[in-house]
Amino acid sequence: MSDLNDIELTAAQHARTHACAERVRYEIKQQGGSIGFDQYMQLVLNDPAVGYYHGQQKIFGAGGDFITAPETSVHLAYCLAHACEQLIQDDPQRSILEIGAGSGKLACDVITYLHAWGQLPARYYIYEPSEALRVKQKKLLETEIPEHVSRIEWLPNLSGEILSAIIIANEVLDALPVKCFEVQADSIQERCVALSEDGNLIWQLQDPVDDLDAALDYITVMSDEPLGELYRSEINLGLENTLSAWTNCCEQCIMFLIDYGYPRSEYYHPQRSMGTLRSYYQHQVSEDPFKNPGLQDITADVDFSAVAKAATHLSLGVLSFGVQRNFMLANRLLEWQPSADNEVERIAQIAQLKQLTLGSAISERFQVMVLGKGIDYGADRFTLRDMRARL
Ligand SMILES: C[S@@+](CC[C@H](N)C(=O)[O-])C[C@H]1O[C@@H](n2cnc3c(N)ncnc32)[C@H](O)[C@@H]1O
Repeated sequence: MSDLNDIELTAAQHARTHACAERVRYEIKQQGGSIGFDQYMQLVLNDPAVGYYHGQQKIFGAGGDFITAPETSVHLAYCLAHACEQLIQDDPQRSILEIGAGSGKLACDVITYLHAWGQLPARYYIYEPSEALRVKQKKLLETEIPEHVSRIEWLPNLSGEILSAIIIANEVLDALPVKCFEVQADSIQERCVALSEDGNLIWQLQDPVDDLDAALDYITVMSDEPLGELYRSEINLGLENTLSAWTNCCEQCIMFLIDYGYPRSEYYHPQRSMGTLRSYYQHQVSEDPFKNPGLQDITADVDFSAVAKAATHLSLGVLSFGVQRNFMLANRLLEWQPSADNEVERIAQIAQLKQLTLGSAISERFQVMVLGKGIDYGADRFTLRDMRARL
């Protein structure tokens, strides 16, 4: 497998990754020689000056680093729009709030469908922390759906008040910082980030900080089988804060969390002994998150049991959980008609539909969890097969 080392960088890319690495080195020295991986991930992805999501490079789709469902086809947008259509019919005051809107493609397609069905929300809010992405989203939406741009509002933060919202976060949870750990026969340690003698970024094992220690106790106690001789994995300790931040601005909300991941028993399965952390650069996967920091995306699968636990602590209802395919089938996927006006594109659209529905990796690995604040609906509204019992 080739990786980021094999690819020649431009002078601008060299300068950017150098600045990002310098920023990380500074932080490591400031903090006495090491930082948690979550802090590293936060810096290299989200630092406004040097972070990956804040750069000018193309991130999504062909010519970028990875592809997400909204970039692949319109099907997810079509089904989400159907779910929103019904929810807006129930309560016309409902707005949509999209978190981490990437290129803006999902917003563009959802708004286009809702307009066609006469069910536009009062407002379509976007909360996007990256200024560079906000600019790209605005450009796309102004070009593709200029007549609806006045309805779209980019929120600088989530401190405002929205009476009733439908929150959508597609592939955002997997981009959030995680801590890394290693379990050996008689020890559990945190995998931190430190510097080698010549200043390179390296892993360093340390005693886990208290909140990680407690969370790992919980995982190992809850695990049906021993995790094995050498077991590495990841954990997001910030989920509760994140869900709280995303829902605090709404008096009432329904939230669609769409991502790749598993319930805990599969996530921390003895066979998944090297975890789920990986990096992407120009559609190539690397297992080394320290290569050219700031130029590659870093991601980890989502432990949906942990999301449900965090939601419950916040008194959010877990309304349904199931594979993305079953969410889409419950939201009228099979009524979708190819829209392309030439035969080749129509065939491509039908092939994309098959990929989403017929036992492919995409149809199994992606999950949809629906949370509710101050509101309840039966799970059958959101999925053909509710799997909350597996969480
Ligand atoms: C993997 S991309 C997914 C983009 C888009 N939703 C899609 O499906 O194509 C992650 C997105 O989440 C944003 N993001 C990262 N951390 C975030 C956070 N803490 N809160 C909100 N958005 C975040 C990124 O800037 C980016 O837009």
